[in-house]
This record gives sequence, C-alpha cells and structure tokens, in this order.
Amino acid sequence: MTFKIPKQDINFKPFMNRPPDYKLKHEIMRTDRVYKCEVINIIELTAEEKLFHLKIIDPAERAIFHFRPGQFLMLEVPGFGEFPISISSSSNNQEYIALCIRKVGRGTEILHRARMGSRVGIRGPFGTSFPMEEMVGHNILLVAGGLGLAPLRAPLYWVNEHRDQYRDVSLLYGTKDPSSMLFTYQYEQWRTVNRIRLMTIVDRPDENWTGRVGLITELFKEIEIDPLNTYAIVCGPPIMFKFVCNHLDSLGIPMNRMFVSLERRMHCGMGKCCRCMVGSTFTCVDGPVFDYWSVMNLKEAI
Ligand SMILES: Cc1cc2nc3c(=O)[nH]c(=O)nc-3n(C[C@H](O)[C@H](O)[C@H](O)COP(=O)(O)OP(=O)(O)OC[C@H]3O[C@@H](n4cnc5c(N)ncnc54)[C@H](O)[C@@H]3O)c2cc1C
Ligand code: FES
Repeated sequence: MTFKIPKQDINFKPFMNRPPDYKLKHEIMRTDRVYKCEVINIIELTAEEKLFHLKIIDPAERAIFHFRPGQFLMLEVPGFGEFPISISSSSNNQEYIALCIRKVGRGTEILHRARMGSRVGIRGPFGTSFPMEEMVGHNILLVAGGLGLAPLRAPLYWVNEHRDQYRDVSLLYGTKDPSSMLFTYQYEQWRTVNRIRLMTIVDRPDENWTGRVGLITELFKEIEIDPLNTYAIVCGPPIMFKFVCNHLDSLGIPMNRMFVSLERRMHCGMGKCCRCMVGSTFTCVDGPVFDYWSVMNLKEAI
C-alpha cells in the first residue's frame, strides 16, 4: 500500500468537529446526564432491524440536546444497561431522535420488545462527527454496507437540507440480500427530490431482484469520480472499509478526505473507562468518525 498525499493536501487539516472537552464542568453536565425519552414510533425495517423514534420527555432538555452527523449516544434500556448507537436522524429535527437498531444480543433484543410509549434513557451525544462544512462546494460520495446506512442517514439529511451547497451527491449501498436493504421507502425521495445518485447492489439476489449483483466495489465501475473534488464517507463492516477505501485511494481521493466510523465495545463514552481504546486512541472521544489517513496509522484499527 502506498501512502501518497497529493501536494495540495500537505498542509490540509480536515475540519473535525471537536468532541466536548470533558474537563469543563458544563460539558460534563450537558453530556453525562440521562435524558429520559419516550418511544413515539417504531418502524420495522427488516427481520433484524427496527427504527425507533425517541422523544426527550422534558421540553427544556429537548431544547438543549444537539448533535452533529456521525455522533452517537449511549442508549439505556431499563433492566439491562447501556450500549452505544449512532444517531440516524436529522440534526435539525428537534422533535425526535431516530435510532436504527439491529437485534444481535441481549440488550438489543430487550429493546426490540419495546412498545410505543415505552421509556428509555439516552446519554450524549458523544464523539467526533463528519466535517460537513468542510465538504461544502464538493462532490460527496457516500458508501454504505448493510447497517452502515443507519449512521449515514444523519449526514444525508444534512446534505439534503443544504442541497444547493454541495455538488454531485452519490450514495452507493450494498447488502447481503434484497431483504436486508434498509430504508427502501426513502429511495424514491432521495433520487427525485434530493437529486442523489443512488445505486444499490446485493451479494445474493432472490427471485424478485432485478438489480445489480456483486460486491459494492462493482458500483465504482459505473460512476465517474473527480478525485480532487470529492469527499467520501464510508460506513459498514470493517472489511468493507479496507476494500472501498483502498479502491478510492487508487482512484486518487486523498485519504484525509475519506471518513469512516469505527465501532468498538464502549462503556462510558467519555474517555474514562479505556474500554474502547485502540493503541492510545479513544474510539469514543477521538472517534468514532476518523479520516482514513488516521485509521491507516492506527495499528489494529480495522
Ligand atoms: C459508536 C457505535 C455506534 C453504533 N451504532 C449502532 C447502530 O446505529 N445500530 C446498531 O444496531 N448497532 C450499533 N452499534 C453496535 C451496538 O452498540 C451493539 O450491537 C450493541 O451494543 C449490542 O448489544 P447487545 O447486548 O444486544 O449484544 P451483545 O450481547 O453485547 O453482543 C452481541 C454481538 O455483537 C457484538 N458487539 C456488541 N457490541 C459491539 C460493538 N460496540 N462493536 C462491535 N461489535 C459489537 C458482540 O461482539 C457480539 O458478537 C454501534 C456501536 C458503536 C460503538
Ligand atoms: S468508552 Fe470508556 S473510554 Fe471510551
């Protein structure tokens, strides 16, 4: 692998929204508190994933809860405990927070049994975010695999709400089979209203699938990428990061203009428990959003 940085990027420092400084009392007070929420809507997306709309019950607390695309929160499920989940709604939406949750173990399984009106708690928001302001005036390439579309919805909403500030926006989405495809009800709107070039692909088609078949990198053959005017956001399983980011690197997109979101086991979300450390880096505070250049220099990050 070659680590090449184009000349124009030698002094380029990506604008990463800094996470809160937890040495400041008011930052701790704002982030490390449990906001009590009510489940106001549940959408069954697939057999394994549900989308939960949570409303912070106290209007005053609702008013102070702000997040940026890419940040996550700790979801507290009564009778179980907490786990980290990316925020999957618009950062402009003051009414509710959307979380897309796959049932994988005990905590997520208990949550999947929740009904409308159930109560949960959230702490956060935590971590770094995608540098949306830095991307203004450029093409944006969003690449998602499977559940990776959930954290990508927040930057996607941002782009749609500021659509005229961005040039061409493409979303490449791959899943293992057609039944695992998330948010299919939004595709038409993204394509026609928001002018997003959306391309989908599956590994294993079923008898009704008439679209593309193969790995997500197949889609790169069908689009033209202007490498020096493009920012990429890649979310999905770690193995996908490697293939996709290496491919984008070979096309000439600078590594510090590709962003990925890393997942690690987390406990505090605030750089205190060391559970999420990769080397000397805290995934919860220094990430979860990293530029690919930083990830390449983080041993065992992916
Ligand atoms: C920053 C961040 C954002 C996340 N966003 C989402 C999201 O938007 N939607 C979603 O469904 N899940 C998300 N996750 C993963 C989610 O936190 C785990 O699926 C959840 O903690 C599992 O809890 P459990 O008790 O159901 O399963 P457990 O019994 O704890 O684990 C079940 C399986 O999932 C694996 N697992 C658990 N936690 C993690 C983790 N943090 N990273 C990788 N593998 C894990 C375990 O190794 C095990 O194989 C995110 C994780 C992080 C760190
Ligand atoms: S989750 Fe505790 S230090 Fe990161």
